[in-house]
Amino acid sequence: MKTLLFLLFLFLINVAHAHFKMDKDDRKVIRKEIIIEKDSDEDDGGSRSRFSHSHSSSSSSSSSSSESRERWHPKRPRKPSRPSRPPAAKPKCEENWYTSYRPQGIWCLRVGIGHLDYHQAQAQCATYGGVLSGIQNDWERQLIANESVRQLIPHNVNIAGVWLGALHVDGTNTFAWNDGFTTGTEGMFMGPGQPDNALGDARGPQNCLQLIVMTPNYWNAPDKWQTFNRLIDDYWCHFAHDPPQRMYACGKRGPPVTSG
Ligand SMILES: *[C@@H]1O[C@H](CO)[C@@H](O)[C@H](O)[C@H]1NC(C)=O
Repeated sequence: MKTLLFLLFLFLINVAHAHFKMDKDDRKVIRKEIIIEKDSDEDDGGSRSRFSHSHSSSSSSSSSSSESRERWHPKRPRKPSRPSRPPAAKPKCEENWYTSYRPQGIWCLRVGIGHLDYHQAQAQCATYGGVLSGIQNDWERQLIANESVRQLIPHNVNIAGVWLGALHVDGTNTFAWNDGFTTGTEGMFMGPGQPDNALGDARGPQNCLQLIVMTPNYWNAPDKWQTFNRLIDDYWCHFAHDPPQRMYACGKRGPPVTSG
């Protein structure tokens, strides 16, 4: 009898111990869970609700370890660490316009083809809400030249003069961009000997600028323009025949650059 009682006593102690241990382990799990939630989740609302969920489980449950574990490890898969949000898309110019991200802001560019002199080309750009464009840098020069070539090829024309937004500065042998936005002289890629203003020419000074562009086919039969590939020449504003194919580069302000 005494032995039996003793055995019963041992058994009870064992059960109590097991129970207590389970409880401790569970609490450890809970604490871990809470720490993980706090560390991995920047989303306030989500973390708070999950936090209180784990917390309430800890206070109410103590019976079955496997059951409570299931509750503390809900089936919903752990969110993979959130990929850093993709940078907000840079604002772009509207359809039919290229976007140039200049230091001073966004400038939109488009190229057109047509037998126009400088003044007519300005008027044409105005119908698009723009003006003849200056060239801010080499990227814009290549952009305008590339697009001009793209438009020339289906016309089977190998060379063109592209009107730019610039005028001769009186009393100097220099030019200045006049589109109200292009700055500096980085984009003034002058051809050899230019600008010459056609000094002494009976037709008067050359007060406008054209960018000379050639298609790949041009090189099958190069002419006097061959040293002007993608370079600028000054030209008479009211003429439109050298080279005979006329084009124009229009520009206008783009959407504001948003911060962040
Ligand atoms: C112009 O075209 C060349 C050759 O296809 C290309 O490498 C370059 O990136 C283009 N530049 C621009 C600004 O479009």
